[in-house]
Amino acid sequence: MRVSLLPLLASATPIFAAAGDGDWATAYSKAKTALAKLSTANKVTMVTGMGWEKGPCVGNIAAIAAIGFPELCLQDGPLGVRYAQQVTVFPAGIMAGSTWDTSLMYARGYALGSESKALGVHVQLGPVGGPLGKIPEGGRNWEGFSNDPYLSGVGMANTINGMQAAGVQACAKHYIGNEQELNRNTQSANFDDRSIHELYLWPFAEAVKANVSSVMCSYNKIHSTWSCESETMLDLLKEELDFQGYIVSDWGAQHTTAGSANAGMDMAMPGDNFGDNKFLWGSALTSAVSSNQVSASRLDDMVTRILASWYLVGQDSGYPTVKGWSSWNGGKGGPNVQGDHKTVARAIARDGIVLLKNEGGALPLNKPASLAVVGYDAVTNPQGANGCVDRKCDNGTLAMGWGSGTAEFPYLIAPLDAIKAQVTKDGTTLTTSTSDTPSAGAAAASSAATAIVFLNSDSGEGYITVEGNAGDRNNLDPWHHGNDLVAAVAAVNKKTIVVVHSVGPLILESILASPNVVAVVWAGIPGQESGNGLVDILYGSTSPSGKLPYTIAKATADYGTAVSASDDPYTEGLFIDYRHFDQKAIAPRYEFGFGLSYTTFSYSNLTISALSTAAGSTAMAPGGQVGLYDIVATVSVTITNNGTVAGAEVPQLYIGLPSSAPSTPAKQLRGFDKLSLAAGASGTSTFKLRRKDLSYWDTTSKSWKVPTGAFSVMVGASSRDIRVTGTLQ
Ligand SMILES: *[C@@H]1O[C@H](CO)[C@@H](O)[C@H](O)[C@H]1NC(C)=O
Ligand SMILES: *[C@@H]1O[C@H](CO)[C@@H](O)[C@H](O)[C@H]1NC(C)=O
Ligand SMILES: *[C@@H]1O[C@H](CO)[C@@H](O)[C@H](O)[C@H]1NC(C)=O
Ligand SMILES: *[C@@H]1O[C@H](CO)[C@@H](O)[C@H](O)[C@H]1NC(C)=O
Repeated sequence: MRVSLLPLLASATPIFAAAGDGDWATAYSKAKTALAKLSTANKVTMVTGMGWEKGPCVGNIAAIAAIGFPELCLQDGPLGVRYAQQVTVFPAGIMAGSTWDTSLMYARGYALGSESKALGVHVQLGPVGGPLGKIPEGGRNWEGFSNDPYLSGVGMANTINGMQAAGVQACAKHYIGNEQELNRNTQSANFDDRSIHELYLWPFAEAVKANVSSVMCSYNKIHSTWSCESETMLDLLKEELDFQGYIVSDWGAQHTTAGSANAGMDMAMPGDNFGDNKFLWGSALTSAVSSNQVSASRLDDMVTRILASWYLVGQDSGYPTVKGWSSWNGGKGGPNVQGDHKTVARAIARDGIVLLKNEGGALPLNKPASLAVVGYDAVTNPQGANGCVDRKCDNGTLAMGWGSGTAEFPYLIAPLDAIKAQVTKDGTTLTTSTSDTPSAGAAAASSAATAIVFLNSDSGEGYITVEGNAGDRNNLDPWHHGNDLVAAVAAVNKKTIVVVHSVGPLILESILASPNVVAVVWAGIPGQESGNGLVDILYGSTSPSGKLPYTIAKATADYGTAVSASDDPYTEGLFIDYRHFDQKAIAPRYEFGFGLSYTTFSYSNLTISALSTAAGSTAMAPGGQVGLYDIVATVSVTITNNGTVAGAEVPQLYIGLPSSAPSTPAKQLRGFDKLSLAAGASGTSTFKLRRKDLSYWDTTSKSWKVPTGAFSVMVGASSRDIRVTGTLQ
């Protein structure tokens, strides 16, 4: 197992790094030995949660003394250990995504896993590959990395590798088609086989390839069958992708005893349905096995998968137990597990920031004589950073969304906290208005050299409604009439800078219409180090290097997807986000992959290898046929920092399939790198294309096919700023 963090800013990390020394064959052999010692009652115990709030964690499996199996703890969530005190609250998945930095993704995963382990958590419920984010208003999009499957897959793989190297079992969720919160318990995702493979399954395939130990089946239906009972979808994991771990239900997503067992679900959580004390497994499963409605071998398979995953990450020896803290007692009394993880949190809160607009060098700030800070989003919620349960409000600065994907802040550095420290050093005169009232904002800003207006837009899980938003966002406008706040400030201040904390895209047209809005800083969902990361960028100690993990449109309708009350036919097929904007020739406001820097970069020396004609192996391993992951071509490009300050660039490789492939997006992300370069320095990025990266899913043969003909190779600074092109054949 890896014992230390990768260097934080190393740029040479392979995009798909290996997760320690996990070995399924050894884990399975240990699991089979243990299985032989278990009674049917033991086996049923191992697959059935103890019931809601019946143990310290959000999910608990009772101990089995016969084999020294401890009480198993499953705990949320994807950005920190939920409910526990003294944990690190990392930037959300979407901000890890906007760093495009695989080292930081890995470091975040490793730190998350280390904290879980130290608290005795065996299974940490993350990362999130679904929702993928096809609907911009989708309430939980911020928990995942990007609505591009390749970027999401890289986020999944690196996060899982980090988490599992630290010793915790990761849980890839929510599988699959849970793209919105509205009616999530009844809606059917009626997507086609090709869209499933090329979009929604892709991040889960990367998770399986990274040896993820568990996958969570989702609340919704797929073609009218519950996700946790959809043999078709669960077989995709276990057969097509050769997934060796176990499938756990989302909390209460199980609906039948035999149906879920026979479809391939392996663990029922929380056991009952949120405390109703009705267990669909437990003794009901014992009866189903004795009456042969569920075979004994299926039960053995469930148990073997759970045991193998436990062995895979080494939890059978010296693993801590949950001591002193519980989800139900305010999370107090556990160890302080934060270590130095705030360094990773700050690096992501900084490097995930995307600079969208910067007229006339408005940024970085250089000791301005006077500065106004405006907006409720500049300060911590007056009721405290954790003042609203599960972040059930949008009071004060937005540093995480709401729902089960939350954690308790150990502290929160709000933007104004960090700015105050900086203005004190600089001798800048500071005026503030920390409400969203336009007239007060204008009063604070009217005599300042520069004004910074803070806006946000929040969303979360559907069991909570905030300001009329029932999980999904009602619209893509800034909350609290943010457009009016900006207009009032920009009317009196010629150097107005807008900082946005948002769960996803916003329509910025009204804000950009004012010539006095000279800069727009997209500050993501940044976690506890929010203000520190922001000040690093605003004052230029680091040049911004984040890139948008989704498109920002000029109008909501431009996305072509929306929350729907009825079943979702997925009529857009493959054409979501930039694939759709390209197909329909719609000009976005800021395209997928876009982000400015304080320096500039030139691209040159595009080098493209020949495409390998060797046949791929059809042998199976986690991730599917081994040959799908062979490197079949490489592309390299030289990047030069031709500006005057150091910075990091994210060269992005997009591939256009030859016309012999059936209707396919014009370009799809298939590689990226992050290069830190001193002023004047050059570096080379090499992209390794795997067979799957150059394939489409052929629905007739039900297999990945490399189309014949020439592939377009496009490398650039965004999906619409292609700098060098060539052909691969
Ligand atoms: C996954 O496990 C296999 C062995 O079962 C191992 O060969 C492979 O390197 C692992 N992959 C990663 C990414 O850890
Ligand atoms: C907190 O937010 C709620 C709405 O979610 C609002 O009603 C309340 O007034 C806010 N409290 C403060 C102190 O801003
Ligand atoms: C840097 O390179 C870019 C892209 O080639 C070019 O547009 C820009 O003019 C160059 N800047 C300088 C200072 O040479
Ligand atoms: C061009 O790229 C190759 C790698 O593909 C690299 O070895 C070489 O140094 C680059 N040339 C320049 C002038 O940067």
